[in-house]
Amino acid sequence: KPRLYSGMQPSADSLHLGNYIGALLQWKQMQQEHDAFFSIVDLHAITVPQDPAELREKTRRTAAQYIAAGIDPSASTLYVQSHVPAHAQLAWVLNTITGMGEAARMTQFKDKSAKHGRDASSVGLFAYPILMAADILLYQTDIVPVGDDQRQHIELTRDLAERFNARFGDTFVVPKAQIQKDSARIYDLQNPTSKMSKSAETPAGIIWLLDEPKVTQKKIMRAVTDNDGVIAFDAQEKPGVSNLLSIYSAITGSPIEAVVGEFEGRGYGDLKKGLAEVVMGELEPVRARALELLDDPAELDRLLAVNAARATEVAEQTLAEVYDRVGLLRPA
Ligand code: TYM
Repeated sequence: KPRLYSGMQPSADSLHLGNYIGALLQWKQMQQEHDAFFSIVDLHAITVPQDPAELREKTRRTAAQYIAAGIDPSASTLYVQSHVPAHAQLAWVLNTITGMGEAARMTQFKDKSAKHGRDASSVGLFAYPILMAADILLYQTDIVPVGDDQRQHIELTRDLAERFNARFGDTFVVPKAQIQKDSARIYDLQNPTSKMSKSAETPAGIIWLLDEPKVTQKKIMRAVTDNDGVIAFDAQEKPGVSNLLSIYSAITGSPIEAVVGEFEGRGYGDLKKGLAEVVMGELEPVRARALELLDDPAELDRLLAVNAARATEVAEQTLAEVYDRVGLLRPA
């Protein structure tokens, strides 16, 4: 089976609809045909300040949402990044073959450091993509399903893999990104030209997986659209309506054109009502299951430990080979 790797940051109490559609839905579909590894990347989360007690809790909550969304922790390896020390160890080696300029060109770093100020940004934030490359390369990954915003990071990962292989001999599989066409970017419901994001300015435009159904419905009914009243897909001219159509399409699995056909000639209210039903129907069981899992944190922690042991076995092999290749002396 081809090896699959992906992950998410535990940086909010709940994942959002962008994470669900851009990542989790694909993960769930792909896990059967792949040898899949899914991590909760807590080491990435601390590249911006986190409250320690909250971070621990968010890490558990993220794990619960993975499982509730359909990731099977006995078929796939679902673990916490910091439980496998090889991630930080490989990242260090990759740091040494990454150029400063190359890292400085990453748009996510540029955006985040512009927001917080360059001097207030940590070296960890700068090195974020290199740790992500380590995640992927440790597992000799063939395919990385992510949302569109991660495209540049996967490109860097490929460059680093090729560079290492060329310099030290064939070591890493060079991975490929898999990015869904229509649903790769879900936008904020209040601000449909920005992607739905944990760090959005107002909460009204974000659908959280753990929102109560009524809250979800309200947010969808209040989504920003436009004034021309025609249901059509046009991401440039009609970003709000197009976003609603994308979400509808991603969750029902019916192509955008079919969704447009279904709602053609009807009003935005109808589209929103239909969408609210579809989204609530999809998320309600996920929410219920996640809350149930969180009722038994000891069991959740046990599952994560078993899975981390499985991940460690694979990761340690790659790390040992890398250390050999670069000439680190083995302990006697
Ligand atoms: P994170 O936590 O920011 O995002 C997790 C996943 O959700 C996708 N995503 C979206 N997709 C569609 N529309 C949106 N509005 C939206 N917002 C987020 C992201 O593309 C991502 O797939 N750097 C990664 C975490 C990571 C990782 C890895 C991923 C660390 N190591 C190794 C893959 C492989 C990230 O930003 O996650």
